Amino acid sequence: MRRPEELRSHQWYGTEGLRTFSHRARTRQLGYLPEEHLGKPVIAVLNTWSDINPCHVHLRDRAQAVKRGVWQAGGFPLEFPVATLSETFQKPTPMLYRNLLAMETEELLRSYPVDGAVLMGGCDKSTPALLMGAASADLPAVFVPAGPMLPGHWRGETLGSGTDMWKYWDDKRAGLIGDCEMQELESGLARSPGHCMTMGTASTLTAAAEALGVTVPGASSIPAVDSGHDRMAAAAGLRVVDLVRKDRRLSQILTADAFEDAVTTVLGLGGSTNAVIHLIAMAGRAGVRLTLDDFDRVARTVPVLANVRPGGQKYLMEDFHFAGGLPGFLSRIPDLLHLDRPTVAHDTLREQLAGARVHDDDVIRPRDNPVASEGGVAVLRGNLCPDGAVIKHIAAAPHLLRHTGRAVVFDDYRTMQRTIDDPALEITADDVLVLRNAGPKGGPGMPEYGMLPLPDHLLKQGVRDMVRISDARMSGTSYGTCVLHIAPESYVGGPLALVRTGDTITLDVPGRSLTLNVDDAELARRRAEWTPPPVRYERGYGALYNEQITQADTGCDFEFLARPGKVQDPYAG
Ligand code: FES
Ligand code: MG
Repeated sequence: MRRPEELRSHQWYGTEGLRTFSHRARTRQLGYLPEEHLGKPVIAVLNTWSDINPCHVHLRDRAQAVKRGVWQAGGFPLEFPVATLSETFQKPTPMLYRNLLAMETEELLRSYPVDGAVLMGGCDKSTPALLMGAASADLPAVFVPAGPMLPGHWRGETLGSGTDMWKYWDDKRAGLIGDCEMQELESGLARSPGHCMTMGTASTLTAAAEALGVTVPGASSIPAVDSGHDRMAAAAGLRVVDLVRKDRRLSQILTADAFEDAVTTVLGLGGSTNAVIHLIAMAGRAGVRLTLDDFDRVARTVPVLANVRPGGQKYLMEDFHFAGGLPGFLSRIPDLLHLDRPTVAHDTLREQLAGARVHDDDVIRPRDNPVASEGGVAVLRGNLCPDGAVIKHIAAAPHLLRHTGRAVVFDDYRTMQRTIDDPALEITADDVLVLRNAGPKGGPGMPEYGMLPLPDHLLKQGVRDMVRISDARMSGTSYGTCVLHIAPESYVGGPLALVRTGDTITLDVPGRSLTLNVDDAELARRRAEWTPPPVRYERGYGALYNEQITQADTGCDFEFLARPGKVQDPYAG
């Protein structure tokens, strides 16, 4: 148990001197009595609430529950508003800003009198950003997942945010529904605060956080507006004070074993492909080397058990929660987990999972009746993606998993949007749609363009899937035979830059390969003719981003943030 003088905040408050006098005087100015805070663990509540972020709009209130827990445990909570990354509104993509929030998180925790942190977020990139920054700061911390929104409803049907938006948009383009239906859908798709309630990127990443052991047990699937979410937030506040007293830092939780279990979890959930990039980046901050090959290796051992859309057929996160949530899911695969590692709540994961069970075998399937016999993501290699590419093959049309087709190439997203429905564009359902300049630098930020729209004349013929290839990402709520995250990306001269319309491309998911059927001599000739695209940012954050961003296979962190090295403590001389 750490004594008050051993707390980090003691340097700000506890010693004698002009500076500490000033810190105490300014805390009086905040309205606190000495006995309310002196000698107590200071807990930073990092809140990504914002009026613009519907996934986090309830977190303004929820922070009060966190503070309640901190006070009751004898800590002193201070709320810090931090950047909000709204998947819906932020352009070109919040992925451009994940590392900015990670930097903000790390530097706030370092530069203020903070002993521990509660991290509040959940919309896609918020989870990895907060955890990357907190891992680098390496204080005791608990993550409070924002929780999924309630299921959508329309004309007696249950809707998944994202997933059904794509589906009905295609139906509208195919002329199957009209403006009136679309207006109703507008009010039915997302009907409460909270993050997307499919097994999209948000649910996948918050589940990964729970599997890593940085949340209260069972936290990740609690619906955002359920009273249980308040109780979980209070429990997080209680927990973090205890962690500070025990000095149990994130580095003790975020071990190689924990990351392997998080990989097992996201694959067994049939989760979002975005988790591949984010887990690699998060592991990097914790000093753990995680690679694409780890995902492919684990995928072959873990079945998909979560029958949650879009990977599964039927259910949404609320169903998953009441079927047992993540503890229930993990209780089905104890043999695939490292049960002796600590979490923020227990000395071992084994202890944490004691008593966990599944209440609905159709939502969380038993091992002998999985949704898919192998994990949801496959890693591809080949001359088109020397450093790898990924495909969520369980969300793809089975007949396309082995396919050779003629490439139809779009140089960028705008060109693709302008020409995809052009009747003059010669294209059949057997062709392979190729989009480039949509990667980490080229997008920039790897926008979620990867589920390229199908030409509307093919949609009208009933075509619902084609092979699509890009260096972009894809929303976790999307589906289709989409090869993503091609590395290196075309913007930096990866082989994707050399593909021409009319070339043939072979996708072989069982063989884990992606091949451009053009010989090396011809590729070398094309490379000699290639000129790099123009620079996108000459100043500002974009210029820093362009200079520092790493490729998809290494997690798209900034090189200067990912590398190990000394960082001076603010109170070091
Ligand atoms: Fe925030 Fe989907 S838009 S999680
Ligand atoms: Mg998303």
